[in-house]
Amino acid sequence: MNDLARLVARIEGVLPEGVAVRVRPPGGDLADLLPVERAAVARAVPKRREEFATGRALSRSALTSLGAPPVPIPVAKSREPVWPRGFTGSISHGADLVVAVVAPDGVLASLGIDVEGRDPLPPGTSHLILHPREVRSARAAGWPQVAVFSAKEAVHKALFPSTRVWMDFLDVEVLPAADGSFQVIPADDQRTTAPGLEELRGRLLLSHRRVVAVAFRPV
Ligand SMILES: CC(C)(COP(=O)(O)OP(=O)(O)OC[C@H]1O[C@@H](n2cnc3c(N)ncnc32)[C@H](O)[C@@H]1OP(=O)(O)O)[C@@H](O)C(=O)NCCC(=O)NCCS
Repeated sequence: MNDLARLVARIEGVLPEGVAVRVRPPGGDLADLLPVERAAVARAVPKRREEFATGRALSRSALTSLGAPPVPIPVAKSREPVWPRGFTGSISHGADLVVAVVAPDGVLASLGIDVEGRDPLPPGTSHLILHPREVRSARAAGWPQVAVFSAKEAVHKALFPSTRVWMDFLDVEVLPAADGSFQVIPADDQRTTAPGLEELRGRLLLSHRRVVAVAFRPV
């Protein structure tokens, strides 16, 4: 099993059965885009078009494996992908790979994924992203701070499309456990909280190069 196949298996292992997972290096073929998708990145730089094309190709492959027709996945106003009726999903672009996850809405009510390199958070940014309790929780459980950042992005991707609520990083607390599961709660001093936040389940996966976070709400 190569590295990418191992990563797919690890992501599948932390998601409920019935979720399709696809991973590939960036460098997608623009010819694979459907017209509405091609129009969405018509003015983008080539690197962005390629990663977008990869994400759409992976998502379509995941959708068709679940029985959906090969329909376009347009871009909504707030940049979220518009999944065909009956499905939910999420896309993330890392430095060296793109990942897409898709679930029938009979399996998951919402789903978010994020992939980040294992680099430390940029100096001076930790306090803009993490509460002191999260820093302590991550340290005690053996997770780098970037994993909590990644979890928050996965939470945003899971909730925003259905709630339309834009939460700031400090509106939420992500408390990871040593086994990679994480609890998501509204921060004590949050200004905004999205419905369904505390029903989310989350899992972190770590390799020597990257961290992957998934957040999902079972039906
Ligand atoms: C939207 C955001 C989460 C994307 O994360 P990122 O690390 O910059 O980029 P990634 O490559 O991991 O993800 C990009 C993909 O996210 C998806 N996405 C973008 N906006 C989205 C949104 N509002 N809701 C759901 N998914 C979204 C898209 O599929 C996009 O890829 P595509 O344009 O090729 O389709 C991030 O840019 C952001 O705005 N974060 C601030 C909000 C936040 O996370 N708050 C924390 C609350 S707990």
